[in-house]
Amino acid sequence: MSSMQVAPSANRYRDTWCGDLTAERSGTTARVSGWVHRRRDHGGLIFIDLRDRSGIVQLVFHPDTSGEAFAAAERLRPEHVVSAFGQVVDREPANVNPNLPTGAIEIAVTDMTVLAESETPPFPIDEDVPVDEMLRLQHRALDLRRESMQQVMALRHRIVKTMRDVLDARDFLEVETPILTRSTPEGARDFLVPSRLQPGSWYALPQSPQLFKQLLMVAGYERYFQIARCFRDEDLRGFRQPEFTQLDLEMAFVDEEDVIGVMETVMSAVFAAADFAVPPTPWPRLAYAEAMLKYGSDKPDTRFGLRISDLSDILRGSDFKVFESVLTGGGVIRAFNAGPREMSRSELDGLNEVVQRHGAKATAPIVVGGSAGWVGNLAKFFTPEQIAAVNEALGASDGDLLLFVADQESTAAAALGALRLEIAGRFGLIPEDRHELVWVVDFPMFEPTADGFTAIHHPFSAPTGDFADPAGMMSRNYDLALDGVEIGGGSIRIHTREVQEQVFKVLGLDEEEAQERFGFLLDALKYGAPPHGGIAMGIDRIVAILAGRDSIRDVIAFPKTASGADPLTGAPAPVSEEQLRELGVKSLVPPPVPAAG
Ligand code: AMO
Repeated sequence: MSSMQVAPSANRYRDTWCGDLTAERSGTTARVSGWVHRRRDHGGLIFIDLRDRSGIVQLVFHPDTSGEAFAAAERLRPEHVVSAFGQVVDREPANVNPNLPTGAIEIAVTDMTVLAESETPPFPIDEDVPVDEMLRLQHRALDLRRESMQQVMALRHRIVKTMRDVLDARDFLEVETPILTRSTPEGARDFLVPSRLQPGSWYALPQSPQLFKQLLMVAGYERYFQIARCFRDEDLRGFRQPEFTQLDLEMAFVDEEDVIGVMETVMSAVFAAADFAVPPTPWPRLAYAEAMLKYGSDKPDTRFGLRISDLSDILRGSDFKVFESVLTGGGVIRAFNAGPREMSRSELDGLNEVVQRHGAKATAPIVVGGSAGWVGNLAKFFTPEQIAAVNEALGASDGDLLLFVADQESTAAAALGALRLEIAGRFGLIPEDRHELVWVVDFPMFEPTADGFTAIHHPFSAPTGDFADPAGMMSRNYDLALDGVEIGGGSIRIHTREVQEQVFKVLGLDEEEAQERFGFLLDALKYGAPPHGGIAMGIDRIVAILAGRDSIRDVIAFPKTASGADPLTGAPAPVSEEQLRELGVKSLVPPPVPAAG
């Protein structure tokens, strides 16, 4: 629990926080309120641990000095809500609890009021035991009562406050942008809201405040930020929620260095506020191409080695048909040295499942050693020079396990990136107490698709290069990864209408369509838009990592499950025919049958 900074104003419920009652208060009286954390009956006395947000204090009830209060205490159960008054007294030396800030004293209660009773909670509040997550989400108010959740929520508050304070001190202005708006393309599906006043028309919830913050730069606000709620209808995992919170900011008259510099200042303060040790700034930068090659990821976890190498040139022309056909088909052969790992045949086979999740067919495991340089029957397909060159490139010694993937470049990269994480996790190669940040820069601007191009980030990042060769263009983007998680990303933006129109053209939007969807941006760019750029940080992810949690659900007060549901309120839920009619909406699917119970 967090201790409180300011004493409560005295009223009929309390004059002191439970957690503030230390030996200094001995000999005075105190009135406290809170929840019954635990009850013990001992030697004819009743002891109650009373909990409020500040902490826990022990109440003691003597049958002779507080007859009525004692009788009431006999009926107290965990999570009843009470207000109690009494003398703060030193505990018997044998009963002092050095682990509790209030462990030297107790309140000898002379007067107590039960304010509310509690049924037996569905899980214990006073112990940090594992509880089924559905149950926790269904009874979130009780879950949030638990100390570990209170600590996370207090940490979250501290992190957001630090962000606000640092930016406020640097003249950033907090501005709110709309939630009911038009689609902002960040690569996910939109959540849509039907309009009652204009039936047939829909609002989209913002995937980010991207276009509004750019308009604020055109408006001359120079430095904007917002703790912004974003909505994306995408597949959910541990680090993704359909609604999440960004620290969103934008600056005018800046280059990459300015935005990166501000964010390093903000994040350094955040890490310090959370007692989370990270390397000093400036944090290293890695080009996207190098990140994809060496780590198989655009959010590389650089805390451990197992770096990937491209061996295509060394292995070209071998007798191994599998590799050769991939190479002649324009693919690559890449591998990393997993080190001296003892793995059974079935464990090695299991690695295939990891790469298959990323579209590769299999991984070829090779153990270094023996007269040929490689143990096993793959060695015979390669020349001694090839084997020696691979061993040298991977820094391999006898007994090391080399893991190969042959495939198209992006598939091989993703598969080996996942394999690298799997091996590091399985063999405990990730240092628990070290954290690393890396800026990933020099992203390509466009990604080829079956029928054209999509923007790798969003279409408002400033490109470099020649529009005659979209595939070769780069964007002025920068992403920040912490321990292999993308915690933020941004870019220097396009600030002229001509360039913005050219980007839309590459993306296959004709002039009319571009004007239809983004006319408000294109128009604003006509009236003196300053060069500008910004970034957005994923607050939920940052809090989760700093709190040591595996899921951002654990750092959001009221999150959704992986299927986008809220077990607490039952959202999403069917609505009445009448509501739909009013909105001019007809459902194509019958309303779901309510779940039993
Ligand atoms: P981007 O889409 O990279 O950039 O988002 C910025 C950061 O938001 C976090 N994030 C998420 N967190 C939880 N659940 C999600 N579904 C989710 N999606 C993203 C990530 C990510 O790095 N408008 C641009 C920013 C800019 O260009 O300034 C944007 O939104 O940590």
